[in-house]
Amino acid sequence: MCWTYEDFKKAILELTGIDLSSYKEKQMKRRIDSLIRRNGYEGYQPYYRALVEDKKKLDQFLNYITINVSEFFRNPGQWAILEKEILPDLLERYGNLKIWSAACSTGEEPYSLVMLLAKFLPLERIRILATDIDREALDKARAGIYDARSLQSVPQELVNRYFKPFNGFFAIDSRIKACVDFKRHDLLNDPFPDNCHLILCRNVMIYFTEEAKVKIYGKLHDALHQDGVLFVGSTEQIIIPQKYKFQPFKPFFYKRM
Ligand SMILES: C[S@@+](CC[C@H](N)C(=O)[O-])C[C@H]1O[C@@H](n2cnc3c(N)ncnc32)[C@H](O)[C@@H]1O
Repeated sequence: MCWTYEDFKKAILELTGIDLSSYKEKQMKRRIDSLIRRNGYEGYQPYYRALVEDKKKLDQFLNYITINVSEFFRNPGQWAILEKEILPDLLERYGNLKIWSAACSTGEEPYSLVMLLAKFLPLERIRILATDIDREALDKARAGIYDARSLQSVPQELVNRYFKPFNGFFAIDSRIKACVDFKRHDLLNDPFPDNCHLILCRNVMIYFTEEAKVKIYGKLHDALHQDGVLFVGSTEQIIIPQKYKFQPFKPFFYKRM
């Protein structure tokens, strides 16, 4: 009998630990169906077999379904609020900050954060935990090589200071790289860090079901320090933040209550 999407989801969960049921079904199924067609497989089961037999294909599949689009200082207006209002306040109150960039993709987000923090602190005092479910994205993040398009919102002064041309691309300064610890982490399954003064969780919640979102917001709340701040993506405002004990603070920023 032909496999249904349900069968495929179950098999992927067993094989990788990734629970496709927590992602919006219509969107995810459409992407997977089109990938299977493009690769010339006749349905879920033969495609799954190919993933089991070929690690490279499996990595490509995971990389494809996770959607890694990112850029430095994505939505610059929100980064201006972070720089002018959030960071000075947190730094004044706590000095050393524990910061987590969750679902950091290929590293643009945590590296942007280091460049901002470097306006306030010496690089030796900056440490950021940056995590993502996708190992290929994390490898790219560690390599720190970017095309010109992802740098379009980086102020020229920072480009001059922290990037070097590299074979038609731009390589980020190793002193910036040294401030970030990249680790694999699944927001749906893995334990969250605690006592974070600032968490960035941007442009990933849009892919999850309502049920998964509720779980993750609860865990993000618990991961924050009292008065810690959560920075979300530009289409990810939390509808009733009080439900998760978050207090709206600035647009796209919430405080732990
Ligand atoms: C669109 S990118 C967002 C990158 C960055 N935060 C930004 O706003 O530019 C979404 C990222 O979420 C990651 N992701 C998807 N599901 C995840 C999960 N369950 N746990 C952790 N990361 C996940 C993907 O691998 C991808 O890198």
